[in-house]
Amino acid sequence: MSDGYILSIDQGTTGTRAILFNHEGLPVKMAYREHRQIYPRPGWVEHDPLEIWVNTRYVIKQVLEGSGVNPGEIKAIGVTNQRETILLWDPETGNPVYNAIVWQDRRTAREVEYLKSKYIDLICSKTGLIPDSYFSSTKIWWILDHVPGVREKAVSGRVIAGTIDTWIIWNLTRNSRDVLTPEKKGAHVTDYSNASRTMLFDIQRIDWDRELLEVQGRIPLEILPLPRPSSDKSLYGYVGPEIADELFHGYRVPIAGAVGDQQAALFGQAGFEQGDIKCTYGTGNFILVNTGATPVFSKHGLITTIYYSIEPGKAVYALEGSIFVTGAAIQWLRDGLKIIEVSAEVNPLAESVSDTGGVYFVPAFTGLGAPYWDQYARGLIIGITRGTERKHLARAVLESIAYLTRDVVEIVKLETGSEIKVLKADGGASRSDFLMQFQADILNTKVVRPMVYETTSLGAAYLAGLAVDYWRSIDELRRYWRAEKEFIPRISEEVRERLYKGWKEAVKRALGWARE
Ligand code: G3P
Repeated sequence: MSDGYILSIDQGTTGTRAILFNHEGLPVKMAYREHRQIYPRPGWVEHDPLEIWVNTRYVIKQVLEGSGVNPGEIKAIGVTNQRETILLWDPETGNPVYNAIVWQDRRTAREVEYLKSKYIDLICSKTGLIPDSYFSSTKIWWILDHVPGVREKAVSGRVIAGTIDTWIIWNLTRNSRDVLTPEKKGAHVTDYSNASRTMLFDIQRIDWDRELLEVQGRIPLEILPLPRPSSDKSLYGYVGPEIADELFHGYRVPIAGAVGDQQAALFGQAGFEQGDIKCTYGTGNFILVNTGATPVFSKHGLITTIYYSIEPGKAVYALEGSIFVTGAAIQWLRDGLKIIEVSAEVNPLAESVSDTGGVYFVPAFTGLGAPYWDQYARGLIIGITRGTERKHLARAVLESIAYLTRDVVEIVKLETGSEIKVLKADGGASRSDFLMQFQADILNTKVVRPMVYETTSLGAAYLAGLAVDYWRSIDELRRYWRAEKEFIPRISEEVRERLYKGWKEAVKRALGWARE
């Protein structure tokens, strides 16, 4: 008899992944499917929520098929997701009123300028965030103002809103009566970590904030989901009857955990102690440091966020540096410049030279996030000479990922007043030994890559598993984290600082470029 399994669903920016984890925190089977990126205008990014829901069911089916796992052995489902991406839908029909507006979307720059000029202190002190179109609130505001009839429906309770965790959980639990919000035709819930990314959530009171709702386009409180702990012993609900039949041989599997994907990665990296820090190298880079039970408010461009919660009304906090474009710059080398055919080619190309020949690349395609927060910064390549070749550019792109991470890590040290002994790395680009070594060199800090590479999915599984006593305590989870490879700094201080100084000069020139 097996100990059972936890099913983790990771709905990310480019695709949806389902993984079954066993009791040792090891992946037993996994399935993945990409979805369309929709770019209606420059700077706009959307996803089709129905496609995401179809893909979610597809990967669940795939992961169970041929796994030898009986759905009755799944003790709980944990959901993790791309954060900030938001949609509104009709709870009667399940139809979205507009596409999901993705975290990368910059269409609300004007609303953000207005908020910055009038409410910056209010927003920073309550939400821990720096006003930016990255977060969900101005995207909801935009839908309410631009999609005909939606504001009227919102006021009369005929549409509800949510980040992607909420959308997935609502759909999974649709038509189930065993849910926290049966009146919404499904569980209309979010966890505190996702709520903390909307710019509508008071992260100390741990609740939606009426004043924030009012000043950001008069968003009706009723459309927002019920905020709950990331690991919820009350359970968000059980899968609805149709989903139970379609996917789980009729078993009503409980949904017990939800958490933003970057927070999930820190949890999956066993970042349980204050000061534990990770960097996920994906489309962008996201650096999170556990700051414990009291939020630390940054003075230098990091954001304060809820890390996770295992108890109603209580939270553990993190400081975060969000870097919007890193791995996406490698895709640009492939799809935009076409100087490589597949992403993996960037590594041997970069390693074929011992330096960039003085070339710096700043991937500010959509402005710069932490610690600069400049929506008008734009990408830049500088230092080109007659001797510059594509291999120098490939190397400059990889190096920029490490420089941007150092920018954030420097601020983390300043804000927390402590040294960083080790940076835990995960995400697609962390597979590059070259990048990991350069990261250790430029930080002068040890970088460690874990054995279980899918830390985001694992973090969501842990939180769901803790809620149903599949795992007894966080202490038990510590045992399951193992390092795969360590990278020790090996360049001299003089070289390190010379390289980094060049980077800072390059960034200065990219800032403010697109301001009219
Ligand atoms: O804040 C955005 C972040 O959650 C997106 O992560 O991995 O889906 O690109 P990812």
